[in-house]
Amino acid sequence: MSQNSVLTDFFKTNVELVNSQLREYLKLDERCPDLLRQAMDYSLLAPGKRIRPMLALLACQACGGEMTKALPGACAVEMIHAYSLIHDDLPAMDDDDLRRGRPTCHKQFDEATAILAADALQALAFEVLAKDVHPAEAAIQCVSALSDAAGACGMVAGQTLDIQGEKENQTSEASSSTRNSQLATRNSQTDAEALSILENIHRLKTGAMIRVSLIIGATIANATAEQIESLKAYGAALGLLFQVTDDLLDVTATDEQMGKRTHKDSAKGKMTYPGLLGVEASQAYAAELTQKAKDALSSFGQDAELLRNLADYVLERNH
Ligand code: IPE
Ligand code: IPE
Ligand code: MG
Ligand code: MG
Ligand code: MG
Repeated sequence: MSQNSVLTDFFKTNVELVNSQLREYLKLDERCPDLLRQAMDYSLLAPGKRIRPMLALLACQACGGEMTKALPGACAVEMIHAYSLIHDDLPAMDDDDLRRGRPTCHKQFDEATAILAADALQALAFEVLAKDVHPAEAAIQCVSALSDAAGACGMVAGQTLDIQGEKENQTSEASSSTRNSQLATRNSQTDAEALSILENIHRLKTGAMIRVSLIIGATIANATAEQIESLKAYGAALGLLFQVTDDLLDVTATDEQMGKRTHKDSAKGKMTYPGLLGVEASQAYAAELTQKAKDALSSFGQDAELLRNLADYVLERNH
């Protein structure tokens, strides 16, 4: 069996495991209004790739832990991710109508319900960690790591900078009537400055949640400090890689492939890797990040083989 089919099999089995645990967590008591429950269910159980939960399980396994103990952590990171997608799609943010092959939450329901479902998913993520991660010391570490990664100095910081950058680009585009080139609107900025701003946005808006998924799995496995450091380095490279390939797919893939609207980033004035470097150089950078991610796992030996394969999968993904 090839390495890739081992990873495919791992996903098949464990995505189902995560999905059934997510369904359990959505069995909220009767105080939860039906409409809210339906909207949470609609977005959380929609067919996403479940990369972050798989990272939590694989990191736990690579650090010698019993994988099923990481299931609550895996579910918690997917809940935060689902909330972030609901908000990302709102008219005030990316204004999208398609997600995971279905109408976005605010299109299926309404904006208020979507905002509230996302709020509730965020709270549920922390409840799950607090109640279901054992021992209590590990639960505290997971809550602390996830709140840091998801919050004002992590994912939410990245989303804020992404939206601010888009607004600045739109304003300067309107005033210079220059269309279709982010660099042209940044004449006071050097390429290197623009790239470093973009890398910071990507590390925050996407990298932080990818990295913490690994840390949570490792924490539940009671990993050593050395194992955690290696996984942080792997996660930093993989997280950036993930958003670089997302930017590339916005240019090269179709709506049908992605289950979301494509060819939107440049029209909206988003800063992206293909926007700054072009498609080919972005692909080369993605390959470099893949190697960097794999190199970070050298101390793990065979135990981290699926994590290495997952880096290749992210590089080569077409959805
Ligand atoms: C989409 O994430 C948002 C980004 C961070 C680029 P995914 O590509 O993991 O989305 P799903 O979970 O598979 O829908
Ligand atoms: C979204 O980035 C990142 C988060 C949701 C935190 P994008 O805006 O590029 O994601 P897509 O392309 O809509 O999935
Ligand atoms: Mg966005
Ligand atoms: Mg978006
Ligand atoms: Mg995108």
